[in-house]
Amino acid sequence: MAEPLLSVKNLSVVFGKRRHPFVAVNDVSFDIYRGETFGLVGESGSGKTTIGRAIIRVVPTAAGEIIFDGKQINNKISKALDKEVTHRIQMIFQDPMASLNERAKVDYIVSEGVYHRYKKPEREQKVEQALRDVGLLPEFASRFPHEFSGGQRQRIGIARALIMEPDFIVADEPISALDVSIRAQVLNLMSELQKQRGLTYLFISHDLSVMRFICDRIAVIHKGVIVELSDTETLFKHPLHPYTRALLSAVPMPDPISEREKVLEVYDPGQHDYASPENKPRFVEIEPGHFIHGNTSELKKYAKMLGKDA
Ligand SMILES: Nc1ncnc2c1ncn2[C@@H]1O[C@H](COP(=O)(O)OP(=O)(O)OP(=O)(O)O)[C@@H](O)[C@H]1O
Ligand SMILES: [Mg+2]
Repeated sequence: MAEPLLSVKNLSVVFGKRRHPFVAVNDVSFDIYRGETFGLVGESGSGKTTIGRAIIRVVPTAAGEIIFDGKQINNKISKALDKEVTHRIQMIFQDPMASLNERAKVDYIVSEGVYHRYKKPEREQKVEQALRDVGLLPEFASRFPHEFSGGQRQRIGIARALIMEPDFIVADEPISALDVSIRAQVLNLMSELQKQRGLTYLFISHDLSVMRFICDRIAVIHKGVIVELSDTETLFKHPLHPYTRALLSAVPMPDPISEREKVLEVYDPGQHDYASPENKPRFVEIEPGHFIHGNTSELKKYAKMLGKDA
């Protein structure tokens, strides 16, 4: 197997005071390979953004390791490595309006990260190129964000990331705030850029139907715990964890008759009996590339399910 570009090992993130700690991310592990789109899906508050923010080093980690291109990047790192990862790892955000500085012109917004890297004429050229790369006109550089549509603003956000020449991009709900009609355009732009530049994406979303279209592999997260991880096709064909099954049952089906007769599965976290030490859940590879969270008796059940419908 190829070397992962990003490896997250037993990562935990804890918020709050020592007396009232809140574990937002609980012992999660996954690898992201070069050139792939890795999806992170889960309901609101499950810890998706927190994982992204831990990777870009704006949220401190309580335990575990984040390894990028062979080097540990969480906790204290050297200045040189910090500078390197600040360039190589970029994030694009859900709400382009909120993430762009309203009082700055597009050329400043896009070039902010490379302000000290290039002198003025070269910087202007880089901005023009970045705008062209995302399908915008170079003359947009002298305008303000509010002059643009939502889709164009998201393109400005992508240009701002691209100018850094990253190899890894955390895309946090990049199309959720956009009109349905322009979502596909932004997704297509992202996959074009990925092909041209060999980019690797961590794609965060709560929308499984979008992820099915864009992700190579998907991790399902519930209350800070990754409950299932596999390639996209396997996840849709043989979902094992009851939470994954519940999420999938909420994805609309193309056939209106089966859609009308469909029974929505409801997930009850209380069904898991993890209280005693011998019932402690683990995160194991139940078949090649397919990881699942459960205790011994649940893992047995999941193995049986695989045997049945495999
Ligand atoms: N800086 C912080 N301080 C305290 N709690 C936080 C902080 N950031 C996030 N949290 C909490 O951690 C949990 C996970 O939040 P996070 O933003 O990662 O969820 P999410 O999966 O991205 O949700 P959404 O789909 O709504 O964006 C939430 O309960 C949130 O309230
Ligand atoms: Mg979020």
